[in-house]
Amino acid sequence: MSMIDMHCHILPGIDDGAQTAEESIELLHAEKKQGIDRIVFTPHFHPERISLEKFLKRRAESYELLKNTEGFSELKIDTKLGAEVFFSMRIIDMDVSKLCFEGTDYVLIELPTTARPYGVTHTMQSLLERGITPILAHVERYGYFTSDPTQLYDLVTLGCVAQVNAAAVVNGMGAKGVNALQYINWELAQIISSDAHSIETRPPNTLAAYNFVNKKLGENYTDWLKENACTIYSNRIFDIPVVHKPKKFLGRWR
Ligand SMILES: [Fe+2]
Repeated sequence: MSMIDMHCHILPGIDDGAQTAEESIELLHAEKKQGIDRIVFTPHFHPERISLEKFLKRRAESYELLKNTEGFSELKIDTKLGAEVFFSMRIIDMDVSKLCFEGTDYVLIELPTTARPYGVTHTMQSLLERGITPILAHVERYGYFTSDPTQLYDLVTLGCVAQVNAAAVVNGMGAKGVNALQYINWELAQIISSDAHSIETRPPNTLAAYNFVNKKLGENYTDWLKENACTIYSNRIFDIPVVHKPKKFLGRWR
């Protein structure tokens, strides 16, 4: 089955990921070694800091530079443009379709880690009503979800998709209370991606995460995760899974 990475910072010189096109090529080689054959480039977009037009122009220039760099076409990886959009209620008034994964109605949204911002449900609902499905980035990072996973349950049953970082799956990370693997086990997270930034500090590692899921939860889960990524990449409709609603029992979420 095709392996897709739909959250990474590989485009050169646009955010805190790859700084040069050579670094990007190195990261793409590492992706290929992990078995990845399709990638969505998702540079950070902060609606409060840069205009949409300026961001789209910078992203196009960065993509052009990468495509013209020696070694890119030989990699034979299918790529799409996307963005990791930092949450702001301002996105309600924006043309979010320009931030969706190219040719799809899916957009990657990052939430603040410190506190749940005002208006999350309202903003997600407004996107869903416009036919755009938000993918919540690295949901294991948000303490307000891990201390009360029913908050994530509510957003997933509303129609949002949830992504966990590969490193978090392998390292058993989570802000507190619930870790990334637990979210997958409950089907409250439906996608694994690398969130790769650099070869040294945050390398592409999706295969390691799939292998870990295989060992801990079984092949059915791995196939399900890979299939979910294919569904999004091909812009097919993502059926809201019948997820487990976490309940607290003897001080633990189960
Ligand atoms: Fe990211």
